[in-house]
Amino acid sequence: MQRGLFIVIEGIDGTGKSTQARRLAEWLVAHGREVVLSREPTDGPWGAQLRASAATGRLSPEDELRYFLNDRRQHVAETISPALAAGKVVILDRYYFSTMAYQGARGFDPAEIRRLNEQFAPVPDLLLILDIDVNMALQRIGSRGDSANAFEQRENLQRCREIFLSLKDEPFTRVIDSSGTPDEVGARLRQTVQDGQP
Ligand code: TYD
Repeated sequence: MQRGLFIVIEGIDGTGKSTQARRLAEWLVAHGREVVLSREPTDGPWGAQLRASAATGRLSPEDELRYFLNDRRQHVAETISPALAAGKVVILDRYYFSTMAYQGARGFDPAEIRRLNEQFAPVPDLLLILDIDVNMALQRIGSRGDSANAFEQRENLQRCREIFLSLKDEPFTRVIDSSGTPDEVGARLRQTVQDGQP
């Protein structure tokens, strides 16, 4: 049986990942592929607690990392691996590269996070990093970065962007300039996926 195609979309907040993941999924379906579109954190029990913690107070760094790993273990076992084994296209809006970036920015070693994840999480065929500079990202998410809290957010996003871009030379990585309109970025993504297909 044909093994599926595993596409991961990553990038800092404000890069348009969710919109582009949905558009890419629709385009592949229109071309006759069976597509599973999913995201992390998931809507499962660990992911739900992570999303809730954004409002109720952030977990400790250790608990947060553990919850993301637990969420992903379940996601791989219940959704990702079965879909790939059935020959489907899997498109993820965030995956373990977000853990490298965000929990890396919180003090963990990104290389160690990667090692922990790759013990159970399959490596994607294509990692599409949507990239814009932090000023544009802050503008898009409606923050000018001039309060103390927003200054911290700026530093944090900058560090996350650097960790994402540290992956640019991996054979499976493509960095996509995401500064244009959703249509322009969508066209770049489709071209990249087309070029990357056997
Ligand atoms: P996000 O995709 O922005 O969700 P939403 O669009 O619903 O707000 O993800 C929520 C946050 O989770 C985002 O700030 C990044 C963070 N995150 C991590 O810190 N580590 C991870 O491993 C993942 C997958 C996400």
